[in-house]
Amino acid sequence: MTVGHLRSEAGHESGANLAGDSAQPDDAAPRAATGEARYPLMLSLTGRRAVVVGGGAVALRRTRALLEAGANVIVIAPAVLPELARLPVAVLAREYRDSDLSAAWLAHAATSDPAVNARVAAEAERRRIWCVRADDADVSAAWTPALTRHGDVTVAVTAGGDPGRSQRLRAAIASALAAGTLPVRPRRAGPGRPGQRAVGSVALIGGGPGDAGLITVRGRRLLAEADVVVTDKLAPRSLLAELDPDVEIIDAGKQPHAHNLTQAQINALIVARARAGQRVARLKGGDPFVFGRGGEEALACVQAGVPVHIVPGVTSAIAVPACAGIPVTHRGVTQDFAVVSAHLDPSQPGAIVDWEALARGTGTLVLLMAVGHLGPVAAELIKRGRAAATPVAVIRDGTTADQQVLTSTLERLTADAQAAGVRPPAVVVIGEVVRLRELLLPAMPGAAA
Ligand SMILES: C[S@@+](CC[C@H](N)C(=O)[O-])C[C@H]1O[C@@H](n2cnc3c(N)ncnc32)[C@H](O)[C@@H]1O
Repeated sequence: MTVGHLRSEAGHESGANLAGDSAQPDDAAPRAATGEARYPLMLSLTGRRAVVVGGGAVALRRTRALLEAGANVIVIAPAVLPELARLPVAVLAREYRDSDLSAAWLAHAATSDPAVNARVAAEAERRRIWCVRADDADVSAAWTPALTRHGDVTVAVTAGGDPGRSQRLRAAIASALAAGTLPVRPRRAGPGRPGQRAVGSVALIGGGPGDAGLITVRGRRLLAEADVVVTDKLAPRSLLAELDPDVEIIDAGKQPHAHNLTQAQINALIVARARAGQRVARLKGGDPFVFGRGGEEALACVQAGVPVHIVPGVTSAIAVPACAGIPVTHRGVTQDFAVVSAHLDPSQPGAIVDWEALARGTGTLVLLMAVGHLGPVAAELIKRGRAAATPVAVIRDGTTADQQVLTSTLERLTADAQAAGVRPPAVVVIGEVVRLRELLLPAMPGAAA
């Protein structure tokens, strides 16, 4: 703090200038001392006026951040970027004038002209409001930190007025938060009405096909925040080891013919736990809405009045072939693909898949839950017109260390799968795209043979 600042404070305490808006000479503005301690603060700007002087890229960034915080923003600049003009702000298309900060709670001096920025800062000083100068951190009364937000966690970083340094730190913290390696789990329940227990929530998280790196950032964060995790067999279970020791893990264990809990029990469980105020992570394999019964679980929550977050996942239907070197579409080979549940024998009553339509054309067929019916499915497709020599890949435990890939053709599939002892879970890919595996595999380090 400089002598100038002390003088002004002393004047205030002695009763001088208590009206607060009296003029001071511009050079009376206190100047920040290099390395001085600064006071961090989170401001509620909802409905409060903030003035941004400047119309370029910095002004645009600052304006967006102010709008996110609910501020009532006025932008003053003779010319503004088109993106800035499209924002819900009042734009005064002219030079800054002294008195423009009247009624403002916060100012940003973000022009390319240091003299204008200095005038804005001086007016802010006179009015005793905070001003962020974009051009000179040393003399700026306030700084905007580099921010990263993860749900309701906000991390603000400043680094001695060095924006590059704070941005690098922010990026490192953001990736640690995304990786779920920081303790973000809330220890206090959210706000509820007095005398009423806060309702929890359910996050229906698509965990991806098995590899822990294929869950989304949002899924990982919600998993790290959960009080209780209800997990499926094919979810990325290695992530469970990273959770706090007091997080309850319930194994719903859903896989064909081996359910620890019925679907009705799972629905009732997640609803009951959320109603008891817990944050429930329902961790599912792949994407929750691709043959995952996620829709039923979401509806159970909606019907019970429980807030539900849907977190899409990387589906095994696309990711398992991809990680085995098979793109489901490829220019010049095929323009369409179909994802089909083959858990029923095509010849049995109740099978509603239109095999006739699937057999037609060259589209890639991706079959899930098909291991029990490989023979009937291949026979049905050949009978309805797919070439018997069409290439097929059966990928078991895709994306995991146990991945196994069998390549065959429609006509040889039954015999080859039997010989290889193929077991679920597996994704079956039928179509010419399977041949690309031979070309791609050599360039895919770590891809299982
Ligand atoms: C009930 S479905 C759930 C699909 C999941 N919701 C998804 O989007 O990936 C289960 C089927 O997905 C396939 N599957 C899931 N993960 C797999 C993996 N890692 N490797 C091979 N197949 C997998 C198998 O066909 C398995 O029988």
